[in-house]
Amino acid sequence: MAKIIGGITTSHIPAVGNAIAQGLFEDPYWKPFFDGYPPVHEWLAKQKPDVVINIYNDHGLGFFLDKMPTFAIGAALEYRNEDEGWGIPQLPPFPGAPELSWHVIEGMVADHFDITSCQELAVDHGFTVPMQLFWPGLRNNPDMPKAIPISANTVQHPIPTLSRALAFGRALRKAVESYPEDIKVVVLGTGGLSHQLDGQRAGFINREFDEYCMDKIVTDPDALTKISRMELVEKAGAQGTEFLMWMMMRGALGDKVNLLHSNYHIPISNTGAGTMLLECVD
Ligand code: DHB
Ligand code: FE
Repeated sequence: MAKIIGGITTSHIPAVGNAIAQGLFEDPYWKPFFDGYPPVHEWLAKQKPDVVINIYNDHGLGFFLDKMPTFAIGAALEYRNEDEGWGIPQLPPFPGAPELSWHVIEGMVADHFDITSCQELAVDHGFTVPMQLFWPGLRNNPDMPKAIPISANTVQHPIPTLSRALAFGRALRKAVESYPEDIKVVVLGTGGLSHQLDGQRAGFINREFDEYCMDKIVTDPDALTKISRMELVEKAGAQGTEFLMWMMMRGALGDKVNLLHSNYHIPISNTGAGTMLLECVD
C-alpha cells in the first residue's frame, strides 16, 4: 500500500527562484534562509519518496479570478511552468503521477470533497520554487519524485476555513493510503508564513503569530482550526492565508508527527519564511 512518510513546509517566494538561478546561497541576505534546507535534503536522500504531493496556492497562472476552484487536483502526465512576470527562469515540465492522481480524486469525492480535476494545469512559483528548494537540479536530480499538484484558493474570498483545510488533508491521507502500490509519498505545504504584499499594511509580518502556528502545527493542529478566516488575515496578513496549505499538509500526516527540523527567518522578500520537516509516526 502507498504510505505517506512525512511532510515539508516552505515559503514559495518568487525572489527565491531568482536567488537560486543566481547561485546566491552564501550571500549574507540569503544564507540564513538557504541554510534551512540541507537537513531536508539529507532526509529526502535517505527516504527517496516516489511521489510528492505539492499542496500550493495558484496565484493567477493556472486559474484566474474568472474561474477559481476551491480545491483542485492535478491529473496530468506532466505539468508545465510558464512565465508569470516575476523574471524567474521558466522551468521544464514536471512529470506527473496520473494513476495515483485519479485514485486520490476518486477517494476525495467519495469522501464528499467536491474537487476540480485538472488534466492540464500550468504550475506557478507556489509549486516550482519549493520543488527547486527540495530537489536541487530538478530533472537532473535522480531523486526528484513524480509530482501531483493540489491547489487551494487563497486568492479570492470566500477561501476555505482552517478546519476544512485540515479535514481535506485527513481525507487525502485516507485516499493516498488506500492506493494498492507500495510507494512512498511526501506531502508539501507551500506558502506563508505571515505576509501582506499590498495595501496599507504592505510589508506586514507577525513573528509571534508565525511562531504560534509553527508550534501548534506540530503538537495540536486542531487548536488552529479555532482561528477564523478574518482573524487569519488580521494576524498573518492578506497573503498569510497561504497557511491553509500547511493545514492541508498537516492533516495528511496523521495524528502524531515527529518534528525533525525547523527554520524560521524574517524577512525574505516580504515574508516570514518557515521551513519544517515533519515525519509521520504511524
Ligand atoms: C512573495 C511571497 C509570496 O507568497 C508570493 O506568492 C509572492 C511574493 C514575497 O514575499 O515577495
Ligand atoms: Fe504566495
